[in-house]
Amino acid sequence: MTRLVSHLQSSVGRKVVMALTGLGLVTYVILHMVGNLQVFEGPHALNSYAAFLRDMPILLWTARIGLLCIVALHIVFAIQLSLQNHRARPIGYAIHRYRQASFASRTMAMSGMVLLLFIVFHLLHLTAGVIGSPNSDRIDAEGYRDVYGKMIHAFQNPLVVALYLVGQLGLGLHLSHAVSSSIQTLGLEHAALDRLFKAAGPAVGLLVVLGNIAIILAVFLGIVHV
Ligand code: HEM
Repeated sequence: MTRLVSHLQSSVGRKVVMALTGLGLVTYVILHMVGNLQVFEGPHALNSYAAFLRDMPILLWTARIGLLCIVALHIVFAIQLSLQNHRARPIGYAIHRYRQASFASRTMAMSGMVLLLFIVFHLLHLTAGVIGSPNSDRIDAEGYRDVYGKMIHAFQNPLVVALYLVGQLGLGLHLSHAVSSSIQTLGLEHAALDRLFKAAGPAVGLLVVLGNIAIILAVFLGIVHV
C-alpha cells in the first residue's frame, strides 16, 4: 500500500494515472458521441436510448460517480505535474525550441481548461437544465423524456452553437495530443506501430469533433428538426 502511494507520488506514477484516466474519458466521449448521433434517426431512437440509460439507476449513478472521480484525479494530477515541471525549470528556456512539440502538445493546459469550462456549461445546460433549456422535462408522444426536443431547442440558438463549437475546438486539440501521449506513457510503443500510434491521437480527435459538429450544425441548419 505504502509502495503504491509513493509510486503515485512520483512523476512517472502521476503520468500513468493521467494516461489511464484520460483513456477512460476518451472512451466515454466516443460512446457519448455515438449515442448522440442517434439524433439523425429521429426522436424515437434518441429518446428510447436515453430512457434505456436512465432506466438503470444503479449503473447510471455508478458511471456518474466513476466519471466524476476520474475527472477529479485527471485534473489534480495535471496540476501537480505542471507545478512540478515549473519548479524544476522556473525560468524556462531562453530560446523556445518548438520543432518537436506540436501546437496541440504546447496548448494542453489551455485546451484542458476550455474543455473543463465546456463540460461545466454543458452539464448545467443539457443535463441539469439550469441554463436556457426550458423544455428539459418535456415528455414526447411515446412517454419518454424528450432529449431529442431538448437538443433541437438547444442548437437553434446561435450563441449556444458558438459556445459548443469553441468546446469542440478545445476537445479536438486536447484529444489529438492526449491519446498518442497516453499510449507512449503506458509503454505501448512499438517500432513497427510507431506511426499508427502517433496518428491515433489526431484521428480520434478529428473523429469525435466531426461527429459532434455534425450534430450541432445539422440542427442549426434545420437538417434535423422537430
Ligand atoms: C455536440 C456535442 C454533444 C452533445 C450534442 C451532447 C448531448 C448531451 C445530452 C443531450 C445530454 C443529456 C442527456 C439526458 O438528459 O439524458 C448530455 C449529457 C452529458 N454529456 Fe454531453 N453532449 C455533447 C458533448 C459532450 C462532451 C464533449 C462531453 C465530455 C467531454 C459530454 C459529457 C456529458 C456528460 C458527463 C453528461 C451527463 C450524463 C449523465 O450523467 O446523465 N458531452 N450530453
